[in-house]
Amino acid sequence: MSLFAIGDLHLHFQSELKAPGQLREPIWKDHEVEFRRNCEKLIKPEDTLVLVGDHSWGKKLPECEKDLEYIISLPGKKILLRGNHDMFWDAKKTDALNQQFAGKLFFLQNNYASYQDYAIVGTKGFTFEGPFYVRMNKIVGWDAAAESAAIHLIDREMERLRISFEAAKKDGYNRFIMFLHYPPTNIMERNSDFTVIAEEYKAEQVIYAHCHGEHRFHDSIEGRQHGIMYRLVSGDYLKWMPLQIL
Ligand SMILES: [Fe+2]
Ligand SMILES: [Fe+2]
Repeated sequence: MSLFAIGDLHLHFQSELKAPGQLREPIWKDHEVEFRRNCEKLIKPEDTLVLVGDHSWGKKLPECEKDLEYIISLPGKKILLRGNHDMFWDAKKTDALNQQFAGKLFFLQNNYASYQDYAIVGTKGFTFEGPFYVRMNKIVGWDAAAESAAIHLIDREMERLRISFEAAKKDGYNRFIMFLHYPPTNIMERNSDFTVIAEEYKAEQVIYAHCHGEHRFHDSIEGRQHGIMYRLVSGDYLKWMPLQIL
């Protein structure tokens, strides 16, 4: 039995694809064919696959039906995290999605999933990515209004993440794998509210996605920091091969 993760499928079986990177870069050409092939080679029915956000370009659920059907048809148990592009997933309606897709997909938000003696916890997260003002290769300031909006979003996401940890803890779990769609830190930081909560609950790993393209792959923490393993799992970074987490 194994646990796998990958993010950012950005499927568009029913929606118009406008993202220039996805239209232009060879890694995205027929990526859903490549990804399915890799999953079928790697993942057994008893395994679990966590999809770390940005599943579909569809804006409403009916526009995502085929994308979700594709995900359902992949091998293993599928757990979905919310990404910034998942417009079909109203955070307040996660319970309704879990009822609608019961036995097929699990939507991770204000709840947790179990994997052996681990609790899989997570939320979308948020990273303040600027704009930063740079002089002589040093960051000398940033957009204060954007920063205060980011603080608000981060506080809300932290609340959701704590609900997820506490729900698992209440049920007796004390081993955690923490998932975020956004990277836990921006390019200036080594620590953030998200690294602090991961340390507080002694999460063993923090898995995140969202970073696309060679120039963004190393924006945040990779490898071990303060005893926690941080891993980036964006699909284009992994070349559509799910990463084994456990
Ligand atoms: Fe993405
Ligand atoms: Fe994203």
